[in-house]
Amino acid sequence: MLICIPNVLTKEQVAFCRNKLNQAEWIDGKATTGTQPATVKSNVQIPQSSPVAHELGNVILDALANKPQFISAALPLKIFPPLFNRYENGGHFGIHTDGSVMTVPGTSVRVRTDVSATLFLAEPEAYEGGELVIEDNFGAQEVKLAAGDMVLYPATSLHQVRPVTSGARLASFFWMQSMVRDDGQRTLLYDLDQSIQELSLELGAGHPQTVKLAGIYHNLVRRWADT
Ligand code: NI
Repeated sequence: MLICIPNVLTKEQVAFCRNKLNQAEWIDGKATTGTQPATVKSNVQIPQSSPVAHELGNVILDALANKPQFISAALPLKIFPPLFNRYENGGHFGIHTDGSVMTVPGTSVRVRTDVSATLFLAEPEAYEGGELVIEDNFGAQEVKLAAGDMVLYPATSLHQVRPVTSGARLASFFWMQSMVRDDGQRTLLYDLDQSIQELSLELGAGHPQTVKLAGIYHNLVRRWADT
């Protein structure tokens, strides 16, 4: 399941992040990748230990905590601290799958990567190319969103970032371990939850059928969730 979540950050928050990132130290993106993807990766990143990454990561995580659509889609158990990258001058990331388990730097916390996220921090008009191309069941999906918008996609999928031929593509990217590891089960729960939300508006949250469906939703989560 591929889901775009609009306005995770306001335009003011995006400007704040861009300003901080413009003043930050950047390093070769290969430093934070395993050996296989490093051969196809050409970009720069903010070091994981940098105070800027920590500060801006918290801005993003705080914003996500208030987004019911994000909670419903990802059912997050653990979130890897957000990272930041920039592609320019032909920078790209060839087709790859993200590593399956990531250790949070400086800790013994391991995050199984069930869901990948990219939060766009540059407006699409500001650069040429740079599309995130995700292979899913229906073929390749191209994603290039407004600054402040985010896409969630299964970490199991093959994906790539097309070369940025002019301008600069700034983004945050990170992974989540979901309470529900299977993408098919997460998709069913998301679709069911969205229908319940709409029925609640039409019939009322107290309508017997809405109450029954909400019960079914929670009983499915109880069956499938690890906590
Ligand atoms: Ni990737």
